[in-house]
Amino acid sequence: MRTEVAIIGAGPAGLMLGRLLELAGIDAVIIERKSADYVLGRIRAGVLEQGTIALMDRARAGGRMHDEGLVHHGVELSFDGDRHRIDFTALVDRHVMVYGQTEVTRDLMAVRQAPAIYEAEDVELHDFDTAPFVTYRRNGVTHRLDCTYIAGCDGYHGASRKSVPEAAIQSFERTYPFGWLGILVDKPPVSDELIYAHHERGFALCSQRSPTRSRYYVQVGGNEKVEDWSDTRFWDELRRRLNAETAEALQTGPSIEKSIAPLRSFVAEPLRFGKLFLAGDAAHIVPPTGAKGLNLAMSDVAVLAGALIEALQEKSSAGIDAYSSHVLSRIWKAERFSWWMTSLMHVFPETGAFGRRIQRAEFDYLAGSRAARQSLAENYTGLPA
Ligand code: FAD
Ligand code: DHB
Repeated sequence: MRTEVAIIGAGPAGLMLGRLLELAGIDAVIIERKSADYVLGRIRAGVLEQGTIALMDRARAGGRMHDEGLVHHGVELSFDGDRHRIDFTALVDRHVMVYGQTEVTRDLMAVRQAPAIYEAEDVELHDFDTAPFVTYRRNGVTHRLDCTYIAGCDGYHGASRKSVPEAAIQSFERTYPFGWLGILVDKPPVSDELIYAHHERGFALCSQRSPTRSRYYVQVGGNEKVEDWSDTRFWDELRRRLNAETAEALQTGPSIEKSIAPLRSFVAEPLRFGKLFLAGDAAHIVPPTGAKGLNLAMSDVAVLAGALIEALQEKSSAGIDAYSSHVLSRIWKAERFSWWMTSLMHVFPETGAFGRRIQRAEFDYLAGSRAARQSLAENYTGLPA
């Protein structure tokens, strides 16, 4: 088998890249390790920047998103029960949309004409400095796919980044000593807008998926196990971290999904190795506090699609030559913002009383300074590509 672009991974990055190439008339094959149902079952991000909304439209996959997605003009920050609203529209004339990653993935799967290859085992990348090809096993049979380029969109644990020789790649990493325990519940959201809450017991986030489905998170220790968190324990802990009025209004019920995600900042450099390009979580991880992971994956592949189209149709290497430095500049800004918002909103065991006073000062500064709020709003709603 032969194709122009072999795309490894059918997450949001791989599916969007495949769709943009397909619309440009470029043949691409997506190879995914899991089944389509498994990919759709993963509950992850929920907030789309305007750039991501526009990209869904460009992919002709935005119809249901516009019908069902919820436009949000601001978020609320709360610190030890004191509340402050960040008004995106007034501050930067921008908004975000609440629409789950699951739905983005489903819509992208639905519009794609060429089906992806699911349940591909032992995916391996070969000879990406010269004549690249990918091998994988499916139903016990080994296949070989020759290609002009490979796009590594297979997430943090994928095969693409790992296939690069260690000497050719540099990693920058920071792990945090806590995770997010998330719950999905079929109850109306406690608030029209998202609430990011700092409390001495730890961070909490009130998010949503629809007018009848809510998503809530609490900061938990790095070694916590999801089995130790009954629904009752989760709701009790969440209520404690919210202000009294919000805690009172919270509608609880049986969880329909519950999981713990570790928090990590990670960037690989560079993102091009001959004819292999890394994009999305394969290239970088942000802690989820700024809602940047999915959006960053989408902006990477928007740039990569343009570069590959230029290389394959116009025979110009300008775009692929610039890809790594182009996207890394935006990636590091999103890393900075995600790290900053994580630092403000979480309880860090090692910082002690001094650290908490600094966090309080940061919150008070935001509440009192339009310039500070504008900076938050500009970053949260998405910096230009
Ligand atoms: P992924 O979505 O990880 O997709 C990669 C795909 O590659 C997967 O389908 C995987 O099965 C496949 N794959 C892996 N290895 C191979 C292989 N060897 N061969 C072939 N295929 C392979 N972001 C937020 O903004 N908010 C959140 O609340 C949030 N929660 C998250 C919770 C978790 C547990 C995780 C892991 C991430 C979360 N994120 C969140 C981040 C966000 O979901 C990601 O940034 C986004 O999914 C990135 O998309 P991607 O396509 O680059 O990678
Ligand atoms: C959600 C996740 C985030 O990381 C975030 O910052 C906001 C919302 C969510 O899953 O709804």
